[in-house]
Amino acid sequence: MAKSLTDTYDSSRVVLPPTENGIARGLSRAAYIDDDFLKMEYERVFARNWTFAGFAHEIPHPGDAMPVQVAGQPLLLVRNTANKIGAFHNVCRHRGHAIITAPCRGLKSLVCPYHAWTYDLDGNLKRTPHFGGYAKHSVDGFSLEDHGLKPVRNGVWHDWIFVDLAGEAPALDKYLTPITSRVEDLDFGNLKPLVKLDLGVVQANWKFLIENFVEPYHVPIVHRQSAAGQPLAEHYMIVDDHCIGCGIDVAEPCEDGSRDVLDMSTRYFVLFPNFVFGWYLPNQLGVHLNVPLAPDRTQQWRVIYHIGKQTPNAEYVKRLSELWQRVHREDHEIVEGLQRARASSVLEDGGLLSPYWETSVRQFHKLVIDALA
Ligand code: FES
Ligand SMILES: [Fe+2]
Repeated sequence: MAKSLTDTYDSSRVVLPPTENGIARGLSRAAYIDDDFLKMEYERVFARNWTFAGFAHEIPHPGDAMPVQVAGQPLLLVRNTANKIGAFHNVCRHRGHAIITAPCRGLKSLVCPYHAWTYDLDGNLKRTPHFGGYAKHSVDGFSLEDHGLKPVRNGVWHDWIFVDLAGEAPALDKYLTPITSRVEDLDFGNLKPLVKLDLGVVQANWKFLIENFVEPYHVPIVHRQSAAGQPLAEHYMIVDDHCIGCGIDVAEPCEDGSRDVLDMSTRYFVLFPNFVFGWYLPNQLGVHLNVPLAPDRTQQWRVIYHIGKQTPNAEYVKRLSELWQRVHREDHEIVEGLQRARASSVLEDGGLLSPYWETSVRQFHKLVIDALA
């Protein structure tokens, strides 16, 4: 399947040829259902770009660590004694057991649970108990220095940890520019994570979740109540190289703090491939972490942030969480319906994209194809 995809797409380096009217087509069905296609994405999309991997506030102190999955590979993120975050392959250099399997707090070192090989918080191998025989902890010619945990290039922007598995992506600052240049008024100094919503495993390809986030066309249908304050007419599209999304400026937002519907001006950004960032003006941010598990399964979390000096009360956070749970449920039903329909051979042609409202989707498809080429 993957081979025929390459044949189909590669010549023009764009998505499938447009229709006679110039209307673009989406990716054909194999991109959403084929194991080999996801493997190619792991290697060429997720491992060769800055990929969003986790939230820094979840490892707030030295010695805190958590396992994550990026490009199908197990990694660990850890805060060292100098308070700096590091990323490593979560693989012991002895026989390859995972070093940590759950979030940990206040570790002094990283100890493999299998034979207790011990690494410091910078990934250096420090001890190999009994490796050379009982009470003989070293082996002639075996150097600890050469067997530290394999590091992964990483960078942190505010609360967001990015990794670059291949180590060849452009500087992180440059990658972030399409967002940083559009959120200059956002007061990051007063950013507080309020709650992390575990949105579970969505039975859909990761790309459907991204596509759905960057197009507003579905909003008045799918979120007719939950986004009643965001009419389609007031949306505009954002397509800027590897940054895609849309925005809306609402003339008269509700200002009384009753957030039972989305009614505020918003900027919806995705940085390719998976950094999903929504700024709900003036004082709310939502960032999603989507981790593909299989062609038809994606794990999703959302962290809701407040921007401001005061922390909102528990009732506000509860209402906000309920609103977002509802919005995500509405989206999940839709993307799961898209996934089920990919069984149909009719979708070999990818379906059609609006020349206005789905320019962001088309750009996303181009980025996928360019990365695979
Ligand atoms: S696999 Fe880690 S110590 Fe043996
Ligand atoms: Fe939606």
